[in-house]
Amino acid sequence: MKPETKTVHWGDRRKKTAGYTPVTTPIYTASTYLYDNVEQLDRVLGREEEGESYGRYGNPTRAALEELMRELEGGAGAEATSSGMAALNLATMAALVDRPKRILAADALYGSTTNMLVSIFGSIGVETSFVDICDAAAVEAAVAELTPGAVVMETVSNPLLRVGEMDKIAAIARAAGAVLIVDNTFATPLLLRPLELGAGIVAHSATKYLAGHGDVIGGIVVADQDNIEAVRTLARTLGPLMSPFDSYLTMRGIKTVALRIERQCGNACKVASWLASHPAVERVYFTGDPGHPDAATIARLFPKNLTGAMVSFEIKNAGRDEVFAFLDRLKLIVRGTSLGDLHTMAAYPAIASHRELSPKHRQRLGINDNLIRLSIGIEAVEDIVEDLEQALQLQ
Ligand SMILES: Cc1ncc(COP(=O)(O)O)c(C=O)c1O
Repeated sequence: MKPETKTVHWGDRRKKTAGYTPVTTPIYTASTYLYDNVEQLDRVLGREEEGESYGRYGNPTRAALEELMRELEGGAGAEATSSGMAALNLATMAALVDRPKRILAADALYGSTTNMLVSIFGSIGVETSFVDICDAAAVEAAVAELTPGAVVMETVSNPLLRVGEMDKIAAIARAAGAVLIVDNTFATPLLLRPLELGAGIVAHSATKYLAGHGDVIGGIVVADQDNIEAVRTLARTLGPLMSPFDSYLTMRGIKTVALRIERQCGNACKVASWLASHPAVERVYFTGDPGHPDAATIARLFPKNLTGAMVSFEIKNAGRDEVFAFLDRLKLIVRGTSLGDLHTMAAYPAIASHRELSPKHRQRLGINDNLIRLSIGIEAVEDIVEDLEQALQLQ
């Protein structure tokens, strides 16, 4: 064999080494796999035998993450995707296979999700209606009127942190033959598992709490038995999948998500009470607040004191300029557009998550120009509060 040939073939594709198992899943970057004979490959491709054949159909690193998430969410299967939006797209397309091409969605969704439903699904003839997801009677009436194929909601709405009665909504959707799709990004399966409450498909932006370190863009779809085949077929045909390296990072992140989120929820509780008593603060939105408009639902669906680590607040008499000045004064808290990382982050929904909505649309949703969203991290809470205090002082 000539060196040129050796450079292409040598070293790789060694036989499996018997006698040991890697303790953590390695990053498998191979796009295809070699079998001893074509008959075996034929069986693997025909799914009569377990095995890998081609990276779009499956990858051992991605499969390890999918198995972990399937187990955490309690589903029949999972697909890890290249972004949270890819996960939401996949979930929505899968839900509409063999069902009416109509969607009922929560009126307060992540801006890009609303945009995807209206602009992209709308442009191919899928009609979306919106409803106040915290009003179960309104959801029931809208489902009866629209007879949708899918109902879409977030466990905790962004950025006003409202919580709908997911179990009731799942039952309403099922009774009408629709699938409930839940974006569980803000809660993670550590706090709430939508499939156990009757949802058919769960989607995540793994970019956030799951990966947790600000170094991955990714998503996950977990589906029940009725929906997994559609999710899998679409994923394998269209290929919106997570890379082996991002799958490795996400899996590594998930190993500490329980510890992180417990501390983040504790810190969020302290930050929310501190903000509520600050004279420059108009209003605080926090799922752990006993006066929260959905407090009864939260108490019923979430574990005690683990209701999420997002805190939104409004600054008194502030507009866009004052909010910009406040954000620029922050020294420790990171100004950004993401959430769920181990560092505390401040986002301004009007220019970030809800930028794609018109000012009128934002106003209708209650997303005012003085609203700031904090994703609380794992730092010492005293340092988070000190930074907020110095930035609010001049307000
Ligand atoms: C609730 C929620 N869902 C979905 C997404 C989209 O995720 P990604 O940015 O990973 O595509 C985001 C992003 O901010 C989000 O906050």
